[in-house]
Amino acid sequence: MQPLLPIVFPAGRIVDPRIQAAADRHRLECVDGDRFDETYDFMAACFGPLGEIEPREVLRAEIETPRFHGQVGIDYQLVRVVDLEGELVAVIDGRYAFGPDLILGLGSNITTDPARRGDGVGAAVDLSTRLPFLARSAARLGRSPDLPCVIVADLDPYDPDVPESLARMRLWGRCGWTVIPPAALPFALLGQADPDRPGELLGPTPNLLMARGPEATRLTSLPRSVLRSMVDLLAAVSHGHAPAHEVEGWATHARSAVDRWPDHDVALLPLPGRDPTPEVLAAVGREALLDASDRQAVAGLTP
Ligand SMILES: CC(C)(COP(=O)(O)OP(=O)(O)OC[C@H]1O[C@@H](n2cnc3c(N)ncnc32)[C@H](O)[C@@H]1OP(=O)(O)O)[C@@H](O)C(=O)NCCC(=O)NCCS
Repeated sequence: MQPLLPIVFPAGRIVDPRIQAAADRHRLECVDGDRFDETYDFMAACFGPLGEIEPREVLRAEIETPRFHGQVGIDYQLVRVVDLEGELVAVIDGRYAFGPDLILGLGSNITTDPARRGDGVGAAVDLSTRLPFLARSAARLGRSPDLPCVIVADLDPYDPDVPESLARMRLWGRCGWTVIPPAALPFALLGQADPDRPGELLGPTPNLLMARGPEATRLTSLPRSVLRSMVDLLAAVSHGHAPAHEVEGWATHARSAVDRWPDHDVALLPLPGRDPTPEVLAAVGREALLDASDRQAVAGLTP
């Protein structure tokens, strides 16, 4: 079993008292072989019905052994959030991908026990320092943690018919995330199980990609060269769970879009806050996402 870690915020970050209180009442524990099944089941209860979780055996193997794809080293981490009595309250998972010039942290899933939502646990965990986790992955892979680092996570677009989509965006916006314009880097979920057709895959599914600096720092732009490295790292990670032709098709498509972006720096999109303007909502909405995908398809970028 791994030691319990306190929830610590990056140096100099002040959080509101509700979130500090949640941090003080919880601890983090990286899962190794022990407790894997219980932790997986907790996550699967939330994401299994949506087809948004990798198969149990894929994640178990990744916990045991970090993986390499060409030059890219990939380490998966599954983290339990427990209260002071040791009860499981939330689970978060993700990967670090170490490339030649960039470390990409990929948040995968986060879920809090439905009975404990709204207590500040999600924000406390999301805002907490990742340095111990980055160091752990670097050590497991035999790589240096001293490279530029960007953290990303996928996000469902704003949909006025799905109230949680806006609630989630407000939460993540408060936690410092901004969104990569889908026309600059047309992100897609790959290798996802089709919840309606057991054993079948959905095929590439466009989604938004949020970004943040390594210590929850808000980013307003990213150089195009960094987006290019991100595509390589996202593709390397996807090779672990998606068919090669799907990954290669998506990566070709995404590289073309990045290369065609007219500016050296890509301005990132804000997430909606308390009183979002229609423009802010539209930029992260389903229509904008599909429009970006369609326009690229029309321009012949889709392989
Ligand atoms: C998103 C989630 C992890 C937040 O955890 P949490 O412990 O409730 O987080 P906090 O208490 O810090 O923040 C609660 C805020 O999140 C908002 N929120 C975001 N998504 C939500 C959801 N699906 N259900 C309920 N509240 C949600 C609430 O409106 C609340 O906002 P407020 O503070 O303005 O009232 C949790 O709601 C959850 O497990 N949702 C289902 C899984 C999910 O959607 N995960 C994110 C994508 S991987």
